[in-house]
Amino acid sequence: AQTPVKVTVTGAAGQIGYALLFRIASGQLLGADVPVKLSLLEIPQAVKAAEGTAMELDDCAFPLLSGIEITDDADKAFDGANVALLVGAMPRKAGMERGDLLQANGGIFGPQGKAINDNAAGDIRVLVVGNPANTNALIAQQHAPDVPAERFTAMTRLDHNRALSQLAAKLQVPVTEVKKMTIWGNHSATQYPDLFHAEVGGKVAAEQVDETWLRDTFIPTVAKRGAAIIEARGASSAASAANAAIDHVFDWVNGTEWTSAAIPSDGSYGVPEGLISSFPVASRNGKWEIIQGLEIDAFSRERIDASVRELEEERAAVRELGLI
Ligand code: NAI
Repeated sequence: AQTPVKVTVTGAAGQIGYALLFRIASGQLLGADVPVKLSLLEIPQAVKAAEGTAMELDDCAFPLLSGIEITDDADKAFDGANVALLVGAMPRKAGMERGDLLQANGGIFGPQGKAINDNAAGDIRVLVVGNPANTNALIAQQHAPDVPAERFTAMTRLDHNRALSQLAAKLQVPVTEVKKMTIWGNHSATQYPDLFHAEVGGKVAAEQVDETWLRDTFIPTVAKRGAAIIEARGASSAASAANAAIDHVFDWVNGTEWTSAAIPSDGSYGVPEGLISSFPVASRNGKWEIIQGLEIDAFSRERIDASVRELEEERAAVRELGLI
């Protein structure tokens, strides 16, 4: 039998964790024939809740689930990990300045990056979900000098999926008709969902919608969807975030021709090298590749630059704070 793949999930007792773990255990993260071993990392106060979730996982009798470990010790949690989903983070509280938020998250993602560096398997792949995701991924990466830099990624797949769904609804086509969608930049309100490269029915999407809708409805609806969910549900996106994490890792491992993911920049499209920024990406042989050769019009350039500027500011701030 195949050796199980060890998947470590942080923030396992949180609401995304609850939506995520069952899908991993059912085989949706890696493939329906890949056995998995789950490792749940929580803060001490939440270990008991994670144990409760583990009891429910047991009660599903998932054929592919070969074991569950629960700990508040990062070194143990990442020991031999092949996939790490970093979900637990410090949320922004009312009145919190950016510096405080980055400082608090640096205290989580720095040590977790080091624990990954020291303990994870050679093929470790990391997806950061916890916000501010791009910069948290950068912090973790900078504490893991022995892990290839490109193994650290952040999630913009939820934004990508939101963009697919909004465009498909507007054009009244199934989501499967929408191709080549791209989210550029930061997973934040400055992100740029790009319809100038997206296609529906083989034709450029931006040419099938009016400019006012694209600028004043589509872009803000996608970028502010998280806030709209909180407003409606009284809690932030959880099942859709978990779904996007599943999509990201599945495509990373199994390959895709085109999606969006925040990965370390190699300088493509004028994004400063090293920033973990969202790009149009393909995945081949288990590696993300930035899709090259796209022409960037002035409208897109301005918006990509604005989001990338925000990432540069976050990087400067974490440098200033000594977090990287
Ligand atoms: P939640 O508050 O329900 O759960 C977070 C969990 O993380 C809690 O159980 C907490 O105990 C745990 N945690 C905190 N610090 C930890 C540490 N140092 N080690 C291990 N566990 C720790 O939050 P929820 O709704 O599950 O969201 C998690 C994160 O995902 C938030 O930062 C949220 O902003 C982010 N998010 C990101 C999205 C994206 O598209 N990138 C979409 C939706 C949410």
